[in-house]
Amino acid sequence: MQFMRIVIRIGGSVVASPPNPKLIQSYAEVFRNLRAEGYEIVVVVGGGARARQYIQLAKDIGLKEEEQDEVAISVSRLFAQLLSLKLGGLEWKSIPTSLETVSDLLNEKGIVVMGGLKPGMTTDTVAAMAASHVGAELIVKATDQDGIYTKDPKKYADAKKIDELSFDDLSQLMEQDKHMAGIHQIIDPEAIRILKKNRIKMIVVSGKNPENLLSVLKGEKIGTIIQ
Ligand code: UTP
Repeated sequence: MQFMRIVIRIGGSVVASPPNPKLIQSYAEVFRNLRAEGYEIVVVVGGGARARQYIQLAKDIGLKEEEQDEVAISVSRLFAQLLSLKLGGLEWKSIPTSLETVSDLLNEKGIVVMGGLKPGMTTDTVAAMAASHVGAELIVKATDQDGIYTKDPKKYADAKKIDELSFDDLSQLMEQDKHMAGIHQIIDPEAIRILKKNRIKMIVVSGKNPENLLSVLKGEKIGTIIQ
């Protein structure tokens, strides 16, 4: 079967802000099932708005940017740890802090859950780096939107969902969006660069329903495919 080694990037917006116990449990269940079907999975959990709250707190006490990022990374790792413990109990309590550990753990366990890696990036970039490192050809991004739109759908009623686009189309769209809607970013541009260079495909789906992961892997056309 195609794409047996995959990276799943779960938005902080989906599981962390606000914390969603039901969803964390259903994701654990879906990952267990995917593992049983033979998939090898790296899950990268983001910190989202929750991480940004802590970045603000770190700023307010006078910490430097790199130090603020370390705090945000800890937030993403905390949610990664909750999911990891739910999957594997105390033996799975440690969240990898390097790509080398990710590949070792993936070979050993078949599922790895991680958060951020180092200051100055986002978990989109971590997911792209992890995919490239472990040789995954697909990243599924489960986020707070059901795909990529022509404009920010939260701000523009006439925004339309795009079913499929290239990385170049996406970069162009984000350039337009930057002028129209301020700082809204669909996918971190650094992540796009890594994905394009390594020919890794990304599918963006709504994270509110973990079953979407199963649909995507069955080849159903949901969300937005970027390749
Ligand atoms: P996230 O990747 O957690 O936020 O990074 P996001 O993209 O808004 O998350 P989702 O889509 O809701 O999950 C938040 C911030 O944490 C720091 C950066 O400051 C980043 O902007 N961070 C995160 C790092 O410095 N390094 C990392 O590896 C991850």
